[in-house]
Amino acid sequence: MRHPLVMGNWKLNGSRQMVNQLIADLRQELSSVDGCDVAIAPPFVYLDLAKHTLSGSRILLGAQNADINLSGAFTGETSANMLKDVGTKYVIIGHSERRTYHKESDELIAEKFAVLKEAGLIPVLCIGETETENEAGQTEAVCARQLDAVLKTMGAAAFEDSVIAYEPVWAIGTGKSATPAQAQAVHKFIRGHIAKHNADVAAKVIIQYGGSVNAGNAAELFSQPDIDGALVGGASLKADAFAEIVKAAAKAKK
Ligand code: 13P
Repeated sequence: MRHPLVMGNWKLNGSRQMVNQLIADLRQELSSVDGCDVAIAPPFVYLDLAKHTLSGSRILLGAQNADINLSGAFTGETSANMLKDVGTKYVIIGHSERRTYHKESDELIAEKFAVLKEAGLIPVLCIGETETENEAGQTEAVCARQLDAVLKTMGAAAFEDSVIAYEPVWAIGTGKSATPAQAQAVHKFIRGHIAKHNADVAAKVIIQYGGSVNAGNAAELFSQPDIDGALVGGASLKADAFAEIVKAAAKAKK
């Protein structure tokens, strides 16, 4: 049985004041909820503050990116070891915003995946098709290509203790979520693709859905057998909405 994971990707949002307030509110809202792992991924500069503010709670810490290098002359970068040092557990890689705005390739993302595993961190590998690719019927081919970059270099065993987030690019920040049936079909495909290499790992890997998840659509998404939680953007900035999503996952996956 897979344990659901709901993670908030704060993207480029936050302040010291917001970190303190949002975490205090989340701690209160989630104090009696179990049955779902919960994590938040604030911007790098607030990770240390968030870790301290989360102290004693069951909410885990995630980061939004990592460099492939561990140290040295790489101005502006943050290493996996540094993220580990401040208490990060999960690291989002391959987010479509990084693929688009920072031109990150499948190969670079696979390298990041390897570096994170080596550091003992849990990669949250984002994959998903654009609207054009979706309309051209290329959803499965795109997801397969993005998974293959990791499978080719690391094999299916790499997905043990790793997380995949299916985030159709057309659903991110648009308010236009995939329907539960649409998302389920792709999640099933993703699990099947990993199963071709290792059925045991495929059965265990957490596959989150991401893209306009909110308190209203979460329960139906989580009712699908291959949707193991969510990577939440906008709604993770509001404690009550995020807590509702976590509660829906805990309830659906009991
Ligand atoms: P929204 O929930 O704002 O659509 O963002 C999803 C996302 O990109 C999470 O990584």
